[in-house]
Parts: sequence; C-alpha cells; structure tokens
Amino acid sequence: MRAGSTASRTAVLVCQARAVADGRLAPGRFSDSTAARLLRSDEEVAVERARDDEAPQRTRDRMQWEMLRATATVMVPRTIAIDDAIRERTNCQVVILGAGLDGRAWRMSELAGASVFEVDHPASQDDKKARVATLSAVTAQLHYVPVDFSQDSLHVALADAGHDRTVPTTWIWEGVVSYLTRDEVIATLGVVGRRSAPGSRLVINYQAPSRSAALGRWFMGAVATVTRQDNPLAGEPTRSTWSASGLAEALTAHRFVVVADDDLLTLIGRLDVPVTRRASLSNGRVVVADRPVT
Ligand SMILES: C[S@@+](CC[C@H](N)C(=O)[O-])C[C@H]1O[C@@H](n2cnc3c(N)ncnc32)[C@H](O)[C@@H]1O
Repeated sequence: MRAGSTASRTAVLVCQARAVADGRLAPGRFSDSTAARLLRSDEEVAVERARDDEAPQRTRDRMQWEMLRATATVMVPRTIAIDDAIRERTNCQVVILGAGLDGRAWRMSELAGASVFEVDHPASQDDKKARVATLSAVTAQLHYVPVDFSQDSLHVALADAGHDRTVPTTWIWEGVVSYLTRDEVIATLGVVGRRSAPGSRLVINYQAPSRSAALGRWFMGAVATVTRQDNPLAGEPTRSTWSASGLAEALTAHRFVVVADDDLLTLIGRLDVPVTRRASLSNGRVVVADRPVT
C-alpha cells in the first residue's frame, strides 16, 4: 500500500478467513468471534457460504468458497502461535504493526491491563475505526497510530502517541512484512529495536521465498476475475520474502534473541485440523524473538 490509497483489501480477506474458521477449525484452540463483527454485510455473505461444507454449484461461488476455506486453514496456526506468544509474555504495552482488522484488542482478555497501540496505514485505520465504532475494546487503553511504513517516522508517531520506550513492549507484526520492501522492513526493525526495553518480545509472521506462493497469488487473481470481484491482492503486491536465517540475522543485529521460528505446516501439525494446501502453509512462518533482561 502507498499513501493516499484505499483501505487494505488483504486485511478484509484475512478477517473473513478468521470468521470462516471460528468455531469450525481447531475449536478449543482457535477462536475469533470478533472477526465476523468487523465485517460489512456484503463481506459476511461470502463467509457464511464458506462456513457451509457443501460446495456451491456456481463456478464463481465455488472458487471464492475454496479460496476463503484455504485462507482459513492458514489463519488458524498463525493466529494460535501469535496468541500463545502474547499470552506467554504479555507486557503492559502492546504494539500491533499493520493492525488491519486484528481483533485482539476486542477479544483477548489477557490484554485487559495493557495499553495497545494499533499502527496502520491511515486509509486502513480509518476503515477499521468505522467498523469498530459499536464495539468495546477489552484493553485498558487503545491508541490508533496512523503510519505509512514507506513514508512516515514510526519512531516519532509512537512517541507522540505515548508509547514509552523505557517499558517493555510486546510487538506483533502479522501478515505485513511481505507487503514492504527489504529496506522498509529493516528500517521498521530499527525503530522496534530502539523502542524495545529489556523484556520486550517481537512476534513476526512472514513469508519465506517460494514459487508456490506466486502460484497462490495467481489463483487469487483468477478467482477475482471469474467471480468478477476486485482482486484483494492487486493493490498489495509481494515486496519482500525472508529466509529464517536472514531474518534471524536482522533480529540479532537489533539485540533480539530468536526463541522460536516455525512454519505454519509444522504448527498446524500440532492441531486437529485437516491439512490442505501444504505449500502455502509451509511458506508462512512465525518467529518469536525476545530482548533479554540483562
Ligand atoms: C494482510 S493485512 C494484515 C492485517 C493484520 N495484521 C492481520 O493479520 O489481520 C496487511 C496490513 O498491512 C498494512 N500495510 C501494508 N503496507 C503498509 C504500509 N506501507 N504502511 C502501513 N501499513 C501497511 C495494511 O494496511 C494492512 O492492514
């Protein structure tokens, strides 16, 4: 996304996917009842269809059904891994980078005592604010911090919003890195490093390099063409992928210690969820890195 653009479509897609998964996949481990409440009525129609195990007859509905169900399978291990990492180290400041329609500030009771800072592109954030207007956050404080990572100073924006760099922070950066260039990722990591007191934790969901991911994006484009809808990925191309060792090197340079880095296929293997689209699961990864208390 770039300044002046419209709200993120991929944020809606992953929110729809969480709504498709809620109560259906890994019940007891995965739940996100907030997701459906963040959707507009036209977006909910596709979700309701995808929650039905019977595939629709019409080709365009069938393709969208497949896409949403496949994305739902990806969202389950990704969300669980991140939620677990937050619960394991819930600092009193939580910063969600590229928050999109993340519902954690409305659904995670563990964040009740935390100050949550939702950082996002201004267009996406305006859209989110309209969607949550009738919902109540569970968090002690919720700050909206509009930032375009490609143009604005995250450091200044967080300081202005009241983020305290002397207090440990839990950072969440989910499903965003691939939309940024390598330079933007490095620059953002630099700010996260500068603003992370000892005891901070950084959780990143990122994409490893892969040919099948390119195929997956082509499939999404084909679904959009056949269903005569906007391609959610059209305005948000992949700009960077990271190997686990490459990202670990960047994290180490900012004095973070990697405590876990797993692909989603490994993570879903620990759950009772039928596995389809193994390739897209194996490309997605979640890394957890801590700033040690010295
Ligand atoms: C796929 S969505 C993920 C949203 C959320 N983290 C989640 O997992 O549900 C991608 C998010 O990255 C944000 N994003 C992409 N490029 C950005 C940029 N240059 N500056 C700020 N945010 C950006 C979008 O606004 C969007 O909210």
